[in-house]
Amino acid sequence: MLRSGVYNMQNVTAVTSAKGGVGKTTITAALGAMLADRGKKILLIDGNSGFRNLDIVLGVSKKLVFDMADIIRGSCNIDKAILCCERFNNLFLLPAVQNNENRLSSSVMKHLVFLLSKCFDHVIIDCPVENDFSADVIFASKVLIVVTADPVCLRVSSLISEKLESKFDVEKRLVVNRFSKKCFLKSNVISDFDEIIDFIGVQLLAIIPEDDRVKIDCGKGLVCPKTGPAANAFHEMSVRFAQMF
Ligand SMILES: Nc1ncnc2c1ncn2[C@@H]1O[C@H](COP(=O)(O)OP(=O)(O)OP(=O)(O)O)[C@@H](O)[C@H]1O
Ligand SMILES: [Mg+2]
Repeated sequence: MLRSGVYNMQNVTAVTSAKGGVGKTTITAALGAMLADRGKKILLIDGNSGFRNLDIVLGVSKKLVFDMADIIRGSCNIDKAILCCERFNNLFLLPAVQNNENRLSSSVMKHLVFLLSKCFDHVIIDCPVENDFSADVIFASKVLIVVTADPVCLRVSSLISEKLESKFDVEKRLVVNRFSKKCFLKSNVISDFDEIIDFIGVQLLAIIPEDDRVKIDCGKGLVCPKTGPAANAFHEMSVRFAQMF
């Protein structure tokens, strides 16, 4: 088993989902930005080897030269590979490898994350959707499962939750993203939130509404609305997240 008492990864959180496009990267960036805004030193890790995009969402892609594989190869030191996201104080990014062939093995990744976790208040990993678990989910002590409130997503997400339950000792929380009351009522399949929570069997952390103002500006990155329902929901999510520690 990858987790062991030697590696204390209490401040490492994985953001995952069973279905693509539900908002993992958005939630990772928004949570990181909110926590950093309150003075915490935050490292976001892009776990999407070969499909990295957290650099775009954070608006730092032009600065990207090195990635996590360069650290391991010795092509650069850790400070060079980690990018400072100037728009958000205290927010840093470790980019994923561009080429999936250079992907780090889970044991190397685990060592690297362990070392980095000592230098930050929180390390949050944006994990890809994979058939089994992304290796990054395995050693995180907290896992946020992002879902949308539709029956297909909920069905597959309940399987992720079961697998995590049986395999690893992690604290899990549910984030319902892109919620729209109108669509929810119209779907006629799920009656209320309790049903979602019971179905997945994971405690709720946040409900983030569908909001047109949550979008990626190609030059600047994620536009986190300052006001409105999504802004409030992101804020509440970060407060509740901080209370988990
Ligand atoms: N609450 C929201 N309201 C409106 N749009 C949203 C919201 N959350 C995410 N989106 C949009 O949904 C799209 C998918 O989000 P995102 O890239 O974060 O998903 P993902 O789970 O990381 O996808 P992938 O599985 O491909 O990595 C993006 O265009 C994003 O801007
Ligand atoms: Mg993503």
